[in-house]
Amino acid sequence: MCGIIGYIGPQQAYPILLNGLKRLEYRGYDSAGVAVIDGALKVEKKAGKVVDLELKIQSATPIGNIGIGHTRWATHGAPNDVNAHPHTDEKGEIALIHNGIIENYATIKKTLESEGYTFRTETDTEVLVQLIRALYDKLGDLEDAFRLALKQVVGTYGVAMISTLDPGRIFVARNGSPLALGIGDGEFIVASDASAIVQYTRQVVYLTDGMMAVLERDKYTTKTIDNVVVNGQVEEISFDTEELEKGGYEHFMIKEIFEQPDTIRNAMRGRLQLDESTVRLGGLSSVADQLRDARRIIIVACGTSWHSALVGEYMFEQLANIPTEVEYASEFRYRDPIIFKDDVVIAISQSGETADTLAALREAKRRGATTIGIVNVVGSTIARETDAGVYAHAGPEIGVASTKAFTSQLTVLALMTVKLARMRRMGAAEGAQVINALIDLPEKVAATLASAEQVKKIAHEFAEARNFLYLGRGYNFPVALEGALKLKEISYIHAEGYPAAEMKHGPIALIDRNMPVLFIAPEGDIYEKVISNIQEVRARSGRVIAIATEGDTQMESLAEHVIYVPRALPFLSPILNVLPLQLLAYYIAVERGCNVDQPRNLAKSVTVE
Ligand code: G6P
Repeated sequence: MCGIIGYIGPQQAYPILLNGLKRLEYRGYDSAGVAVIDGALKVEKKAGKVVDLELKIQSATPIGNIGIGHTRWATHGAPNDVNAHPHTDEKGEIALIHNGIIENYATIKKTLESEGYTFRTETDTEVLVQLIRALYDKLGDLEDAFRLALKQVVGTYGVAMISTLDPGRIFVARNGSPLALGIGDGEFIVASDASAIVQYTRQVVYLTDGMMAVLERDKYTTKTIDNVVVNGQVEEISFDTEELEKGGYEHFMIKEIFEQPDTIRNAMRGRLQLDESTVRLGGLSSVADQLRDARRIIIVACGTSWHSALVGEYMFEQLANIPTEVEYASEFRYRDPIIFKDDVVIAISQSGETADTLAALREAKRRGATTIGIVNVVGSTIARETDAGVYAHAGPEIGVASTKAFTSQLTVLALMTVKLARMRRMGAAEGAQVINALIDLPEKVAATLASAEQVKKIAHEFAEARNFLYLGRGYNFPVALEGALKLKEISYIHAEGYPAAEMKHGPIALIDRNMPVLFIAPEGDIYEKVISNIQEVRARSGRVIAIATEGDTQMESLAEHVIYVPRALPFLSPILNVLPLQLLAYYIAVERGCNVDQPRNLAKSVTVE
């Protein structure tokens, strides 16, 4: 949700800013802009993608060794050239970029207007830069003005500022929106996340809330916005630049889909203990007692992570016998939830920065629950603020539609389930069976992905569909929701996921000969029931596509297309069954000419509530 970058050092800033903006573009792509100082302040901005900005200024690129850049996901004000960041004061001497929302911008704006300031944009960010200018005019010191302005602000921000009034420094601060400070050899790169930094240095300081930094050519200072110097811990970035490239694939999304045999293996690496028929999760050892004695688990999450939470609910209840509730993080916080001291609250988040999930987590903590994170991005806010956690280890996920992070989350949930079940009720023999099934999983994932060519043909046939229905039961009901979400997100086809049996209470009215209905129908206890649901769709001429277990020949006579998936234990079956749905959404979106990696209106990391 908005990407921020800043550079100070001996190199030309603009190419580094541009490169960083391309890395950060998944965070928002409504507009892009840069500001560079070379004597004067030069600001360039443009609605659209980073490449549109690049084209606009290719013949006159800004020169200078200090600069900031921004890629926007619009909140306040339409995504046009004027509202694009950086924003400047009236004299064009201070440039500021911002990720977040200034909630009290209207009040501040009113005061500034009464003092004679005029505003050119509809953004909350312009209010902040004008406030800094007003304070500078009173105090004569830019750092103090920056600090004191931020103290007046209610809301969230990651901000970066440069100015000809103090031309050798970049000022940055964080409250709620992430900022990482890369420490290079005689240079600093500050960015919303480490993907824009790793090419230059692996040493980073992750700013915490209420923290600011002042960057100069040869030194940096970190302090609170109350002016108390604090030393941020220097950490090492754990991934490589290659993981941020498409590696020969046309899009990040398809690369990430095909990475899943490896990412699932990585989620399990060092965690399976076949000799003791259990799982070792070092990140949970500090809360082992609370987990064993938990009265209830509540899982909070958003989007795709919420779907993995739903699968987790089935896993925890059926195998570990722990009552589990799943909540939309955005709803949980505002409905005065009842939380007992012996509740364990799990926050699931790919980015570890989703504002709603973070707010729900803080609420749970405030009410005394033990909190656990299942997070992909190492060092992210949710990972830091939970009492304990398990990383998903899926590596950087760039495609806005989440794929590999989802299956890694499911893998981690499966590992936690085994851990909990073995503490409570699962015997060693069953434990060993489950561990062996986990060991076999990456190969089954690879085998499932071999259906890609078949799925591509199905996608071709259905690319013009206007609606899609996804139906599944039990563990695979959340998979139906996730399949529908993937299609909606990247192809803009209206799609709904439903528990298969609920179809007859409403969605069945939609079924006619133009309606594709995708059934997730693996073998198991409820197979026969799903077959009945398929018959109900066929009786109304709906077009059935089925995901079925290898060897299920009966399905061929019931469905127009059958995509076979290897046999798996029921609680692991979602990890396989979702794969053809990811592929189907991808190939349909490609057929329709959609921007697969950057679907309209969405952003990868939603850091506003
Ligand atoms: C956004 C993304 C989704 C993601 C959701 C939750 O809406 O577009 O792909 O599932 O946020 O994100 P998180 O990082 O918390 O998993």
